[in-house]
Amino acid sequence: MNILCPVCNKILSKNDKSYCCENGHSFDLAKEGYLNLNLKNSQKTGDNPQMIKARQAFLEKGYYSFLRDELIKHLDEDDRLVDLACGEGYYTSAFPCRDKIGIDLSKSGLKIASKKDKSTLYLLNSIFHNPLEDESCDKLITIFAPIAKQEIVRLLKKDGQFILVKPDVFHLYELKEVIYRKPYVNEVSLIEIEGLTPYKELSVRKKVTVEKEDIMNLFMMTPYVNTTSADDKEKLNDLNNLEITFAFIIDIYKKG
Ligand SMILES: C[S@@+](CC[C@H](N)C(=O)[O-])C[C@H]1O[C@@H](n2cnc3c(N)ncnc32)[C@H](O)[C@@H]1O
Repeated sequence: MNILCPVCNKILSKNDKSYCCENGHSFDLAKEGYLNLNLKNSQKTGDNPQMIKARQAFLEKGYYSFLRDELIKHLDEDDRLVDLACGEGYYTSAFPCRDKIGIDLSKSGLKIASKKDKSTLYLLNSIFHNPLEDESCDKLITIFAPIAKQEIVRLLKKDGQFILVKPDVFHLYELKEVIYRKPYVNEVSLIEIEGLTPYKELSVRKKVTVEKEDIMNLFMMTPYVNTTSADDKEKLNDLNNLEITFAFIIDIYKKG
């Protein structure tokens, strides 16, 4: 897939350790290997190092490997794939596609991803303004992240697929039983995307015992981290382990 210059939209060519366009705009690869195309005036920063570290520690234990294995089944070697909001590349690095790009706004996430995984080009950029050509991707994937609807429709080729992973109704319910007096289930509905047709919906779930040292890392990965009091959070430290439901929905959409 061609990468476009964020200044003038011309195609960037790789030139040893940098990417340049015909108008002389040049972008150096970071020493870890990712390419920073995020212009200085863009204020958003993505997940912070603490969140990334917690997620990496949790995912490396393999708790979500059954989800990763399921996603791999829907991807081919020949697919031109972009992982929109790839984080530290836990899923991206395992995808079998020869031509793949991971995009995220978190520098700490991309440092980890690009250091470990040389089979993917990682771009520091917003997923709402991707430096890629119209209709240049066979597949796009978004896993627990914001959905850049217009960009997804723009980037996909005709018949291309968008794969969306989101939490199912009972995802992490037992964790919420510990921290909330009134735990609630997740509201789940099909997200409509104008220009795409929902084509397949899969439910992937597993009940797993999460060990003491991993419970807080899991909690740090969730949106509850911003809405839980210090006292309620402390309850997690009293646990030795906890049996938790991991339940995901994989929605696959088609363009055209
Ligand atoms: C919950 S994490 C999921 C990361 C990865 N998909 C995974 O499941 O391991 C959400 C990710 O979205 C990224 N993000 C949020 N807003 C973004 C934006 N506008 N552009 C690019 N990345 C963004 C964050 O930096 C973070 O890495």
